[in-house]
Amino acid sequence: MFKFIVFLFIPCVFGDATLSNRTFPDGFSFGTATAAYQIEGAWNEDGKGEQLWDWYTHTYPDKIDLGYNGDVACDSYHKWQEDIQILKDLGVQHYRLSISWSRILPNGTVNNINQKGIDYYINVLKTLKENNIEPMVTLYHWDLPIILHQMGGWTNPITAEYFAEYSRIAFKYFGEYVKTWITLNEPQSTCWGGYDSGSKAPGYTLAGLGLYECAYVHVLAHAKAYHIYDNEFRAQQKGRISIVIDSPWAEAASNSSEDVEAAQTEREFVLGLYANPIYLGNWPQVVIDNVATRSELEGFAQSRLPQFTQEQIDYINGTADFFGLNTYGTNLISHLNKPNENIGVPNYGLDKGTSSSVDPSWPSDVPWVHQVPWGFRKLLKYVYEQYNHPEIIVTENGWADKTGTLTDIDRQSYITQYLSALLDAYYEDGVNVTGYTVWSLLDNFEWTNGYTQKLGLVQVDFEDANRTRTPKDSYYWFQNVIKTKCLVEECL
Ligand code: NOJ
Repeated sequence: MFKFIVFLFIPCVFGDATLSNRTFPDGFSFGTATAAYQIEGAWNEDGKGEQLWDWYTHTYPDKIDLGYNGDVACDSYHKWQEDIQILKDLGVQHYRLSISWSRILPNGTVNNINQKGIDYYINVLKTLKENNIEPMVTLYHWDLPIILHQMGGWTNPITAEYFAEYSRIAFKYFGEYVKTWITLNEPQSTCWGGYDSGSKAPGYTLAGLGLYECAYVHVLAHAKAYHIYDNEFRAQQKGRISIVIDSPWAEAASNSSEDVEAAQTEREFVLGLYANPIYLGNWPQVVIDNVATRSELEGFAQSRLPQFTQEQIDYINGTADFFGLNTYGTNLISHLNKPNENIGVPNYGLDKGTSSSVDPSWPSDVPWVHQVPWGFRKLLKYVYEQYNHPEIIVTENGWADKTGTLTDIDRQSYITQYLSALLDAYYEDGVNVTGYTVWSLLDNFEWTNGYTQKLGLVQVDFEDANRTRTPKDSYYWFQNVIKTKCLVEECL
């Protein structure tokens, strides 16, 4: 189907890093990822309901680079068979995809089930299985049914109830084909982008307030879906379920005790806010303390951080069968203020009391991805040690460029070095990391960056009505890594 090329290994020393010559362990799972809104298109076809990003891109085209939207995207709603063929030729063991909530429940609620939406996903999942590709299914990848958004979205706890009911429908109809479930994708991005910085839909800037409510509702929603799976489906379907949490590595900007402490505080506010309740119980203590102190000094009657009851703490704690980790970069963290300093209006950055920067020498083509493989290794080790040694699956990692070139040597360099760091974490640090997922299989709708940033192993021509797919060099390179389980020739 595709051009035949003879693959050559990247030299053992690539860039300034020495690559691991170890083999990926038996059972290690390689995959790629996508999400419904970013690839499917067909935004109003076959009974699908409107969702948050349909509304956001249609209402505020000025907030998206070049006014793009996901109405057609990669047209995977129609081209899913071709996508699965591409996956099969790539040789992946798993494929991470998401279900569009409003495609199967047009209003978000279970009183109206859209059979055509159900059929679409059953066809996709069945065909993946027939091709020996394990589906890893995300229930929610940012496409909230619009009615639920209008009712307050992720700041209203009722959303957790509706999510739980939706998840039950998904387990019921698709559970036969799915052994790995992910409840929610990247709550940190949703809560920070959607409800604090305003950089993602719904674009709210509820500084120092919205993010914490959003975190609270996400964690509750996740736990409810976990318990439904555990109580009603696990025994029969024998799958596993978790959440995907995203975080860069937070490295102290200097050895000063203030910066070292600030880096740990940053980890707790970014990663721990979501991971702590699920893996250890309750919010991280530093988050509880800082927000309480500042809320009081700001004149609030109670902390801006919602409190869990003891019953909720116990209900949420332990609701994960593995740790799904998304990561793209590293930040240098400095101390900014103590909890009782710089009091004024609510502000998440001041709650943390940290400031963040990057080293300009770190390779990068877009502001949010930097090639820092040692940061990835540290992050893996930190997650493993901090959260009681969970099995870790890297559910997203990848390189963004602006050109979308087919000769994407930078992408190969980035992924090679990150995979090498992963091998070091596994063999040298003893981290139980069992899978790695490239974001993304295809160039796709990159949220507010529209189609201006490309992350695919496969190029998609968005000017062409046919959305022609062309594998990039990184696709053939990754195909060889999966086949040989090696990054360098000496490993063979
Ligand atoms: C985060 C999200 O899960 C995904 O939707 C996005 O496209 C990639 N990472 C890259 O930004």
